[in-house]
Amino acid sequence: MDKEKQFVSAFFEEAGAEIMASFEEKLEIETKSNRNDLVTNIDKQVETLFVKRVLEQFPDHRIFGEEGMAAEIDSLEGPVWIVDPIDGTLNFVMQQKNFTISVALYIDGMGVYGAIYEVEKGDIYTCEKGCGAYLNGKKLTPVNADDTLADHLLVANLSAIQTNERLWDAVKASRGLRLYGAASLEYMYVATGKVGAYMSANLAPWDIAAGKMIAEELGCIVTRLDGSPINMLEQGSSLVALPNVHKTLLDSYLS
Ligand code: IPD
Ligand code: CA
Ligand code: CA
Repeated sequence: MDKEKQFVSAFFEEAGAEIMASFEEKLEIETKSNRNDLVTNIDKQVETLFVKRVLEQFPDHRIFGEEGMAAEIDSLEGPVWIVDPIDGTLNFVMQQKNFTISVALYIDGMGVYGAIYEVEKGDIYTCEKGCGAYLNGKKLTPVNADDTLADHLLVANLSAIQTNERLWDAVKASRGLRLYGAASLEYMYVATGKVGAYMSANLAPWDIAAGKMIAEELGCIVTRLDGSPINMLEQGSSLVALPNVHKTLLDSYLS
């Protein structure tokens, strides 16, 4: 995996510099499915750069990206990079913080390498399956499996709560509710034990491909909101949580 790790590190450096430089420029902003679903010239530029760099170094690999800059794929057979060029585009546009670049390499549907770059902060989370997870090169400790809902903050987007109203009771039983607006970052907050769980009603594969790998490597449990496993080719709900919190949420608030 050394070549892939070096590749991602060099890509993050190049793409990060382009993103930081864009803070000084006027963004070209378009809407997609609704007025708050945005894409900018920088999202497209970063994904285009990623596709170019992957194909230079790994010509037989395929790419599954949010902005559709590579050939379409309908299976995860063989090596496939799943990329979100900017996760948290609305934060990128409105606040210039709380957004990431998220990339993961899947081979035959199994995550083997994942990396998330919180560009403005300079934090890089990485994980090679089975070899631990790292933040800026420092090994991360697995989450505490015994922590309870009462010990932690919860992150949930409003549609997750609207479709599962008993989650209000889960929020009351926790230390409170937070929302950051970038799924990959919210996955990392669970993976590093800063919050007990993150729930969303609808995420795409590129929102969670790297986050799921890193969170699982650190002992978190990742499923749909009904407890079923996630198929990395499909959109759907997402629940990532510390083990005990995952069980409590499913047994008492989501069933
Ligand atoms: C979005 C963010 C957001 C989540 C949305 C995603 P984008 O990704 O991760 O937190 O609630 O569902 O689409 O569009 O900024 O890449
Ligand atoms: Ca995203
Ligand atoms: Ca995106």
